[in-house]
Amino acid sequence: MATQSKHAFVASAADNSITGRIAFIRQMQTDLRTRPVTGSLGVLKKFVYKAVRSAFCRQFNVNSATVDLVEALYRETEGHASPSRAPVAVPFVPSVVNQTLAANNAVAFSTGEVLASCGQTQDQAKLNNIRPLDGFNSVYTSPAEMRMPERVALYSLIFGMQPRNCLEIGTFRGGSSAIICGAMNDTGYGQLACVDPIPKIEPQLWSQLSNRCRLFEGPSPDILTDVAKQVNEPFDFALIDANHTYDAVRRDIAGVLPYLADQAYLLFHDANYPDVRRAIDESVASCSQLTDCGLMSVEPTVLYENGQNVTWAGLRLLKYQRPVRKAKAA
Ligand SMILES: C[S@@+](CC[C@H](N)C(=O)[O-])C[C@H]1O[C@@H](n2cnc3c(N)ncnc32)[C@H](O)[C@@H]1O
Repeated sequence: MATQSKHAFVASAADNSITGRIAFIRQMQTDLRTRPVTGSLGVLKKFVYKAVRSAFCRQFNVNSATVDLVEALYRETEGHASPSRAPVAVPFVPSVVNQTLAANNAVAFSTGEVLASCGQTQDQAKLNNIRPLDGFNSVYTSPAEMRMPERVALYSLIFGMQPRNCLEIGTFRGGSSAIICGAMNDTGYGQLACVDPIPKIEPQLWSQLSNRCRLFEGPSPDILTDVAKQVNEPFDFALIDANHTYDAVRRDIAGVLPYLADQAYLLFHDANYPDVRRAIDESVASCSQLTDCGLMSVEPTVLYENGQNVTWAGLRLLKYQRPVRKAKAA
């Protein structure tokens, strides 16, 4: 890694164009951040650095922001903005701490370029397709009945696994649908069938989801045959977050299995809730095609109900693998 950076440094220094100079400055910054203090005056240098560190860091951040700004302007004027960055949107950042963060990194957040300067050269960032994710805003803004780790995990699973055809049993206000669609928008891939007998989605939210979502008003599992027929493809991902009684969860699982792709994933919300947990455990035990991948988020919600503490929340993932059919002997 160190050798690679050095080469990039030398190459950039020789390039006198604006992009070359920006790359050169970025490389110097990276070098400055990571270079160890060595030499006979090492101890003294460390001491001086410690004394002036806060001023140095402030100046360093101002300089980085300036380079970001110059580069953003340069890209704008040259029309170099990548399609995935237009329109540029600053993510919704709710807390005071995050607002401070956003203010410090305002340019960086809006251009995404700081990602490249955080220990990665521009080339490495490009290679790894480091980019701003506008759909990730849904993690903050969606009306999902989900905790923060669940939101992030749901977004990440969809963003990472890129399922083609998703099913959601239990949509309510469209919160989890919004996160799923946000991730799909960021991959540019996928569609979602939402099943709920009494959905309560605000029209404004629905207008943002309807390019990827179809809503089926009715109860699972009764309408699943019809849903599968209408979307015309097997599901490779299903979120089950509907009726949380033991019987209902078992019915939802049994009901969805025939409509799954040869390999698919089932994700359960409120998997910490005792009825849901038992239904999942027993379904896994009785179906060899299901493998338990465990909890994707462990943070619980504990509510005092009927004189006792009851644990809710928790996302749990199961993998479904259809057995390979043996060819009939001639
Ligand atoms: C906990 S909410 C879903 C929340 C949503 N997944 C979210 O995180 O934003 C449960 C929803 O399941 C729905 N529901 C109940 N029984 C159902 C069934 N048999 N099939 C589909 N949905 C059902 C309810 O109407 C309710 O809207």
